[in-house]
Amino acid sequence: MAPMFLVSNQAMVQKAMTNGIMGTFPTLNFREKGQLDSVLESLNRTKSCGTSGNYGVNLIVQKSNPLFDKQYKTCVDHRVPFYITSLGNPARIMDGARSYGAKVYADIVSMEHAEKCAKIGVDGFIAVGAGAGGHAGPHPLNILLPSLKKHFPHMPLIAAGGIGEGANILGMFAFGADGVSIGTRFIASTEADVNQDYKNAIIHSDQDDIVMTTRLSGTPCNVLNTPYVQKIGLDQNFLERFFSKNATTKKYFKMLIQLKGTKMLEEAIKPGNYNNIWTAGKSVEFIKDIKPTEQIIKDLINEYEKAKSDFFANI
Ligand SMILES: Cc1cc2nc3c(=O)[nH]c(=O)nc-3n(C[C@H](O)[C@H](O)[C@H](O)COP(=O)(O)O)c2cc1C
Repeated sequence: MAPMFLVSNQAMVQKAMTNGIMGTFPTLNFREKGQLDSVLESLNRTKSCGTSGNYGVNLIVQKSNPLFDKQYKTCVDHRVPFYITSLGNPARIMDGARSYGAKVYADIVSMEHAEKCAKIGVDGFIAVGAGAGGHAGPHPLNILLPSLKKHFPHMPLIAAGGIGEGANILGMFAFGADGVSIGTRFIASTEADVNQDYKNAIIHSDQDDIVMTTRLSGTPCNVLNTPYVQKIGLDQNFLERFFSKNATTKKYFKMLIQLKGTKMLEEAIKPGNYNNIWTAGKSVEFIKDIKPTEQIIKDLINEYEKAKSDFFANI
């Protein structure tokens, strides 16, 4: 279960752990004082009961994340077993995570990016392809996965983006993935703490309803094409682009844009909000119902098993 800003919560991660998969969440979902501490304590308690799955956190390692140092220390203090780094250099967390044997996987979107992360010594890649919910990569996974497998044959490889039903999982394994990371499917779970309109929009949309915007964070991000998204446009204006690139203003301007984007997203998941800017990927094509997290996991596994036996029956 992929980390999703403002969507992943403790209940979803606990369901993942007790149903045999890895549940992950962005540490930024717990920004209030003491909140991350108490969530990690609780997940470690669940884990100590001998769950078949496990949990991990996503750290935004970009310099513009003002909470990074504090949250990273909290994670190391609680001996978080698994880290996903995104939007920046994973080197910042390697020593702390390694000090007690945690694994670090890096989100990567290109071969160049993978090369850098491999040199840093990450334990695995999460290849984020075109069509993924959130910050999607430029490349389709049917190209990116086999190239990664060829160049880094021993690196564990997880596929992310566009996986909404079991047959997609089978396809990813065929392209060289060792596992899959699924986000959007879990927005339409009963446990996700987002408003009903957002969940309904997920189940009533298809792949053509997803558009890419730079308005939220400066980095291309897939969202549902709501009237509000159409109103504000998909691209940053000239000045925004200038301040994002200028060496002196870059760091602070990015912080400002991200803060603004976070506020927009926070408003959009509350009930009765009309300024709807909702993150989602093209896997909405396959998502047609809202179900408990546990059911989503079981269905995905059963669909995968069926897709596999159908495939072998037909060759
Ligand atoms: C609502 C939403 C929020 C996301 N937030 C984050 C995040 O905070 N950090 C991150 O690394 N990835 C984030 N992602 C990307 C997911 O971790 C994952 O790569 C993506 O969901 C996979 O594509 P899929 O949505 O098609 O399954 C987010 C995705 C969604 C849909």
